[in-house]
Amino acid sequence: MGWNTLDDMDLAGKNVLLRVDINVPLENGAVSDDTRIRRIAPSVADIQAQGGKVILLAHFGRPKGQVDPQMSLRPLVPALETAFGAPVLFCADCRGPAAQAAVAALQTGQILLLENTRFHAREERNDPGLAAEMALLGDIYCNDAFSTAHRAHASTEGLAHLLPACAGRLMQAELTALEQALAQPKRPLTAVVGGAKVSSKLELLGNLVEKVDHLVIGGGMANTFLAAQGKPVGTSLCEHDMADTARDILAKAQTTGCQILLPSDVVVAREFKAGAQHETVAATACPADAMILDAGPATAAAMAKVLQASKTLIWNGPMGAFELPPFDAATNAAAQTAATLTKSGQLISVAGGGDTVAALNQAGVGADFSYISTAGGAFLEWMEGKTLPGVAALTQ
Ligand code: 3PG
Ligand code: MG
Repeated sequence: MGWNTLDDMDLAGKNVLLRVDINVPLENGAVSDDTRIRRIAPSVADIQAQGGKVILLAHFGRPKGQVDPQMSLRPLVPALETAFGAPVLFCADCRGPAAQAAVAALQTGQILLLENTRFHAREERNDPGLAAEMALLGDIYCNDAFSTAHRAHASTEGLAHLLPACAGRLMQAELTALEQALAQPKRPLTAVVGGAKVSSKLELLGNLVEKVDHLVIGGGMANTFLAAQGKPVGTSLCEHDMADTARDILAKAQTTGCQILLPSDVVVAREFKAGAQHETVAATACPADAMILDAGPATAAAMAKVLQASKTLIWNGPMGAFELPPFDAATNAAAQTAATLTKSGQLISVAGGGDTVAALNQAGVGADFSYISTAGGAFLEWMEGKTLPGVAALTQ
């Protein structure tokens, strides 16, 4: 596919700088969701099996170039040791004399975690000097951080030009799955896009109507489309100033032959809270004092029909206020239909984005999708058709 993998590298006795994304949630100092950590374990294991030493490079949070103890990677060491089944040493800098000494002392079989790359302002500036200092620490650069590949930083982009570079196992899996879903899909191809705002997913929708056969629009952004069609949306979340844009997207879909599915019925409530009293009305009949919090059962049935007729699904964003039951019904129904079709081999299903993955897990079907991306912003930018700098640097 134009980039090297770990299989193309001679790793024996080599120091491998493995860029990972372990930007995971912490609660009371402990990792509360270790998904991203578990997903990098195969690269660590493969490097070790080939006799290489693993040196982990990663960012954590957004310390903006300052050393901020709240954003140290050190508290992640126990979770890393559990996931890798090996001791993980820690060095309080990702470059310079301390890091060089830590690397020099590293024994085969040990893993070294270097402190947050973003403690240096030069990281986000993609400073060649910082990349050169990090390059001194390794013989090979392996990027396994697809979810940070939309950032052109020293450790994600610059470094790839200074050492023999390859993609790690997770990067490989992400790129293969995404390629299969959008670049070379089995058709019909359906995209489900939800979430709050049209404005944040404008480029995404514009790209998708050119590529997909069906586009299902849900969540808060569907309200913007309904309003643009002259339908009442009451007190719903709605970007009225995006009406022209929404109409442009609908018009573009007509020229590309993309079928757009918008809610035909909606679940409305007067309060934005779990268990709020609610009713289902036609999408033309939202009362002035009510807000739309989910798609209704007729819409859910129409979505199921679209999914049943599809061969590939790409999903980003929930269909309703899924964090407030019962307004998770349309999201759950679509998730379950997609999972069932996937399990029976009829559908290739790919999903990404933090909210989306949370919604699928809440529906109990996270494990049944063909592929769940670890990426949020990078997944979105990839769906928008953008080149991700961290990926592009590997292909040069
Ligand atoms: C993420 O969690 O989205 C990635 O680690 C990238 O982080 P960033 O959005 O702070 O660049
Ligand atoms: Mg992000």
